[in-house]
Amino acid sequence: MSQRQQFKGRSAFIFAAIGSAVGLGNIWRFPYVAYEGGGGAFIIPYLTALLTAGIPLLFLLYAIGHKYRGSAPLSFRRMSRGTEVIGWWQVGISFVIAVYYAVVIAWAIRYVGFSANQAWGDDTVSFFVDDFLQQSGDFGMGGGWVVAVGVPLIIVWVFTLVVLRAGIQNGIARLSQVFIPLLVAIFILLVIQALRQPGAAEGLNALFTPNWAALKDSSVWVAAYGQIFFSLSIAFGIMITYAAHLKRNTNLTGSGLVVAFANSGFELLAGIGVFSALGFMAQAQGVQVAEVVESGIGLAFFAFPQIVSTMPGGAVFGVLFFVSLVLAGITSLVSIVEVVIDAFEDKFNLNRTASVALIGGLMAVVSILLFPTATGLNLLDVTDHFANSFGIVGAGLTIVILLSWGLRRLRVMSAHLNEVSSFKVGTTWMVLLTVITPLILGFMFISELVDTIQNGYGEPAMPSWYVNTFGWGMSIGLIVIAFILAALPWRRGVVEAEAYELSQKGANR
Ligand code: PHE
Repeated sequence: MSQRQQFKGRSAFIFAAIGSAVGLGNIWRFPYVAYEGGGGAFIIPYLTALLTAGIPLLFLLYAIGHKYRGSAPLSFRRMSRGTEVIGWWQVGISFVIAVYYAVVIAWAIRYVGFSANQAWGDDTVSFFVDDFLQQSGDFGMGGGWVVAVGVPLIIVWVFTLVVLRAGIQNGIARLSQVFIPLLVAIFILLVIQALRQPGAAEGLNALFTPNWAALKDSSVWVAAYGQIFFSLSIAFGIMITYAAHLKRNTNLTGSGLVVAFANSGFELLAGIGVFSALGFMAQAQGVQVAEVVESGIGLAFFAFPQIVSTMPGGAVFGVLFFVSLVLAGITSLVSIVEVVIDAFEDKFNLNRTASVALIGGLMAVVSILLFPTATGLNLLDVTDHFANSFGIVGAGLTIVILLSWGLRRLRVMSAHLNEVSSFKVGTTWMVLLTVITPLILGFMFISELVDTIQNGYGEPAMPSWYVNTFGWGMSIGLIVIAFILAALPWRRGVVEAEAYELSQKGANR
């Protein structure tokens, strides 16, 4: 692994990490979570989550990747033989998320075009579900491939794989260095246009007026941790993978702080843009802002098209919005596909071209076959829920428990961080990761588990065979596959991996 590619400098890495963090979650999830979680008062749980779990975990993952210098499986393997499986679990989760995340970007690409002539007409919901996605409403797989979604999806994958083929520095870092500034510029134009609409002030009042009573509700706190966790791209394996490509002497914690605050800054900007637009729409319809608030797919593909149709100059507004989704989405997509590609490169001694073609190609094929179909929307919904609630949260929980209670590596990790970084970590950091983070993640994991077991999943509830197959089955399948991959022999790096492990033994005690 002497030829492991590197980020050219700290700013290249910071851009790539911001590119990963700033994604659909910032634009379509944060504004809603903040509004629901007490508006202006949400700043308290949000900052608490950022400071007590988000940033500490980010530092820890940087430390793992940077110290052990490998993809997620290789880093864990080098840390301790038996833990390689955790890395493969993360690889599996990233695989699943990537194959559906790409689809949302494909929709957004089409909606850039639809914005120009407001192709959705009056009923934006039925346009999206019936006319555009051609959903049959069935639960299953396949049922007709939808060309209008499939074609932009193919473009998304070709673009992503070309970028990844170009590598960490020339592909991912360069892409983010162009796309992130562009995204910020375009989003600022969008915010300006939104703020100038009548009703924008009501929208902002709805978002920012503090409802202190919400802070007594534990679900608001859980939502804040969940948002931070997803938004910072923690536990997908991305941060370990990226940090492995950093030069030895890189200020890790300083970079982490820049990434974390840039991500939160963009969330705030998105909140302002989205709620000014919702305020405008509420006024145009003569209703309260509360009646038009939405998140996720509903916000982007039902509400925003309505706003575009109502607003003077709506076509421009629509183009700005959907281009933002595409830019934010693509830079996140490349980061999770990289997790998978890098892992296979390490373990099976593949060169870059081979791993991008084989592994990236496999992901593209799965994505292109399964999701642009008449049953794709349900499939996306169920896999998204399980990959996030049980995959990401479960992997994050396992990692903190392992490092703090199992292997007791936090002291070694803090020493590593402090050796290279400006911002030093100490006892507080260790206490947060030993006590606070496992408690919160454990609570999130168990409460979601209980809820899904008791109530099933879906609104209205999906058939149980379907949830058992694509939800539970998929989640458990990923763990089984992770064990198999971990058990396979290393084609490269194993000798090196074990030698490294031995040489570290002394230092770890
Ligand atoms: N932080 C990303 C977001 O907000 C999460 C993510 C990263 C999702 C990578 C998919 C891929 O959307």
